[in-house]
Amino acid sequence: MKKLDAVVFDLDGVITDTAHFHFLAWKKLAEELGIPFDEAFNEKLKGISRMDSLDLILHNGNQQDRFTDQEKEEMADRKNRHYQELLKKLGPDDILPGILELIAEIKGEGLPIAIASVSKNAQTVLEALDLETAFDYVVDAATVRNSKPDPEIFLTACEKLGALPEHSIGIEDALAGIAAIKAGGMFAVGVGPALDGADYRVDTTAELDWGRIKKAYENFSPGL
Ligand code: BG6
Ligand code: MG
Repeated sequence: MKKLDAVVFDLDGVITDTAHFHFLAWKKLAEELGIPFDEAFNEKLKGISRMDSLDLILHNGNQQDRFTDQEKEEMADRKNRHYQELLKKLGPDDILPGILELIAEIKGEGLPIAIASVSKNAQTVLEALDLETAFDYVVDAATVRNSKPDPEIFLTACEKLGALPEHSIGIEDALAGIAAIKAGGMFAVGVGPALDGADYRVDTTAELDWGRIKKAYENFSPGL
């Protein structure tokens, strides 16, 4: 039996649908700037830090040279205020289907779990969901230097849990996140329709069955 040390979860779009709140908040800012913004473009922003997302949006609207760094900080703050306004509606009922059951099964086997989110609002979101004590470790986005697809955040989570990346599973809803998990040498579980590179994929969190995930992990041979 292959050794399994830990499971590391992304937050936005995996534990709860805050990915949609990020979309709405960016859309509002993009509209204020007269830059087109839709769900397809938003896919590129999933798992990407706030400032990197703003840069991508400005680039898309050909406005990358229009603002000073300070103005960009102000715009990112404005987006964050829109986002935090939406977060006020978030509660424990917004935990995505299947997630609590999955967490309970993993913990039932004595495995540690962590959150690897580049969101500076991660603690607020976990508190709103009543999950602030559910994870053994939550990576502090403020201390992470590199956004996904860099593996830093997943590797930090593994290290803090005392887990070897090659004996750990990462769960993600974003392409950048899957790339980060794979770059870290972990087994990647993707949640969503088009997640190239995932080692195991489901369409929705409701299909995250722990038995099936473990089977896929055990049958996985890196490099094949
Ligand atoms: C990620 C989201 O989890 O966090 C991105 O997928 C978001 O959409 C990023 O931009 C940063 O979040 P925040 O809360 O720090 O602006
Ligand atoms: Mg996500």
